[in-house]
Amino acid sequence: MKGGTPSVLDPKGHGASIIATEMWIQFAVGAAIFVLVVGLLGWILLVRSRRDPGERMPLDESAARRWVLLGGVAMPVVVLSLLVAVSARSLARLASPPSREVTTVEVIGHRWWWEVRYPDYAVTTANEIVLPAGRSVRLRVRSADVIHSLWIPQLQRKIDLEPGTWNTTWIRADDAGQYRGVCAEFCGESHALMQLLVEALPPDRWDAWVTHARAPATIPADRSEQLGEQVFLSTCAYCHTIEGTPAHGAVGPDLTHLASRRTIVSALLPNTQANLARWISGPQRVKPGALMPPFRLDDGRMRALLDFLESLQ
Ligand code: CUA
Repeated sequence: MKGGTPSVLDPKGHGASIIATEMWIQFAVGAAIFVLVVGLLGWILLVRSRRDPGERMPLDESAARRWVLLGGVAMPVVVLSLLVAVSARSLARLASPPSREVTTVEVIGHRWWWEVRYPDYAVTTANEIVLPAGRSVRLRVRSADVIHSLWIPQLQRKIDLEPGTWNTTWIRADDAGQYRGVCAEFCGESHALMQLLVEALPPDRWDAWVTHARAPATIPADRSEQLGEQVFLSTCAYCHTIEGTPAHGAVGPDLTHLASRRTIVSALLPNTQANLARWISGPQRVKPGALMPPFRLDDGRMRALLDFLESLQ
């Protein structure tokens, strides 16, 4: 994931390529007509300027009628019909994936984070969608609260996440790499901070990821991690799940493999110990309106909690 805003004109997936081609066609036709109209206008002005100001220009009625019929009726009908046909073809191509979908990813929008599930593998994660590169994947989305919209500009069109209904599309990254997604529907205070990371992996690494993601959390290895687990179970567990522990809260993101994610806070911050500490001690300072309460822990307990969270590979 390089810095800057991802551009729809820099497509890295089959869906985004269809959209980019469509945009270039529309732009090219629009630009050609603009040049034609401005050129004709310039030509008329040039002809006028070469005559005496007082001279009346003769009106050739049949020529004028021909211009109006050709330029005002025939050309718009032909050009707009062609553009509609091209758009309809793009929409039809966008409706179905170029190859059979190899698995399904479900994304559930929350204020202000993304729950990501893989029903085929019974895997739940958050804020990062991992995909096999070069394969089509079915994407199902809905919302747990208000309407959100998932937009990964370099991969696919926007898709709305609505409460109570599943919307479906497909997604396909041509090559392995990281791609940024955003929420594209105003959903409240931290809408602009509701981001997401997509990582497309080569086939062997994708298989390894699935195997790892299906496994329960690693068992705390030392005293500090064990104390951290106790802190977690007495506070965080009411909202968060860690598979393999008694923590099965369903309000916040699943943290089973938190340490193996690249980012935290809906892809806003790199996953470092300092950022985790900043987030836990003051979520509203990082993401205004965040529903997670701040936790005031003494240094020892905070250190232990961070050690435990960082052990969750
Ligand atoms: Cu979610 Cu805007």
